[in-house]
Amino acid sequence: MRKPKRTAKATATPAPKSAKAPDKKKINSVTLSYGGKTLELPVMHASEGPSVIDVRKLYAETGMFTYDPGFTSTASCDSKITYIDGDAGILRHRGYSIDELAFKSDFMETSYLLLEGELPNKKQKAKFVHDITMHTMLHEQILNVFRGFRRDSHPMAVMCGVVGALSAFYHDSTDINDPHQRMVASYRMIAKMPTIAALAYKYSLGQPFVYPRNELTYAENFLHMCFSVPAEEYKVNPILARAMDRIFILHADHEQNASTSTVRLAGSSEANPFACIAAGIASLWGPSHGGANEAALNMLQSIGTVENIKPFIDRAKDKNDHSKLMGFGHRVYKNYDPRATVMRKTCHEVLGVLGIKHDPLLQIAMELEKIALSDRYFIDRQLYPNVDFYSGIIERALGFPPSMFTVIFAVARTVGWVAQWNEMITDPGKKIGRPRQLYQGANERKYVPIAARK
Ligand code: ACO
Repeated sequence: MRKPKRTAKATATPAPKSAKAPDKKKINSVTLSYGGKTLELPVMHASEGPSVIDVRKLYAETGMFTYDPGFTSTASCDSKITYIDGDAGILRHRGYSIDELAFKSDFMETSYLLLEGELPNKKQKAKFVHDITMHTMLHEQILNVFRGFRRDSHPMAVMCGVVGALSAFYHDSTDINDPHQRMVASYRMIAKMPTIAALAYKYSLGQPFVYPRNELTYAENFLHMCFSVPAEEYKVNPILARAMDRIFILHADHEQNASTSTVRLAGSSEANPFACIAAGIASLWGPSHGGANEAALNMLQSIGTVENIKPFIDRAKDKNDHSKLMGFGHRVYKNYDPRATVMRKTCHEVLGVLGIKHDPLLQIAMELEKIALSDRYFIDRQLYPNVDFYSGIIERALGFPPSMFTVIFAVARTVGWVAQWNEMITDPGKKIGRPRQLYQGANERKYVPIAARK
């Protein structure tokens, strides 16, 4: 097997003071030296955060690609939607901090902000809420799609299937080159996702499907569709609906994470928007991403008592054991995830409203957090609680089983996926996503007929 020659080295002009915080305005290009030649690569500056080296001409000029599995150093696009400073623990949507949005805004307003780039005025907000609300129902025949699943299907399996199936029902909003159709498809998905999620839950319980009620807010309607039954009246607790709404805000977007990148990659081939969002849901499901909230709650349950925390932490640190501290660590945050701070506060509020004075799982979570944050292993690797550490405890208190946690994440993230998908489709420089590879396989060889093989 041929080993690649790794002789190229890059130098910045002028050299940055440190790799982490270069004086970005002064660096307009970097010079790559390779095999006795040099190549000047332009540097593009961000409005905030790290600049990027534009390597688009690299292959044409040098015959080499960059190598970056997991995209740890690669910007796949430019975007105006969300900004994260992982070292400082900052998350902002269109310039507004997640704390302000979580405590002062609501999910519909935040959705408008993500999609349109500005906070809506009263009239714009009323129209947006109206337009979303008008799309909450599903084509009646989609209910038959649900009935094709086993009752014990994981609701994320149902979500992947049903959202993908939307493209078979809404043919009038699959033309990605028509701005009106793109808008209708986007509104349909934001509006229908709570309905689909609630129906997946009802189906798993064997209870009748509950139709949306358009006089309710987005979060109230979701709780209503999940928890009401035709046999009796259901009153949504406004404080719990507010907590639900806040959970939606906290999950609404998170720049180029795995599921959003999946949506963009699927969309780059000009696939229809429903198919792209179904791809995002599939990517979100994994325990390293959105599936971590379910895994975190299962972990707390399996730990069971405060005495078992220490041995569990030892296992999470042991490289020969596949256990991880779920809800801890993040590719971007090397500090407390700002969403986790709000989630922790909301968790205490919700348990207070519900009169739950001592939730044993919350007690284990808080003790686990305390021990992990003072442990050298977690300190050295900058592992802090992420958004998924506390969300499961709140959602469980609201009445959801762990299998619904990632579904709730998908409901909320739909607006982020849709905003990012629209941004990509309208980017004049858009190209089909097509990463390259470092081939490490066999060199050319001759076909051997089966009778002649050993
Ligand atoms: N428990 C124990 N060790 C951990 C954890 C954890 N939760 N997370 C990372 N580490 C260790 C790794 O083993 C590695 O150790 P090493 O340097 O000795 O090899 C080091 O910390 C760096 O971790 P990586 O996996 O290289 O970091 P990466 O950025 O690739 O992964 C991820 C980030 C996937 C989130 C990881 O921290 C993880 O699996 N966490 C648990 C799952 C989770 O909570 N995911 C939700 C993320 S938030 C979201 O998607 C909404």
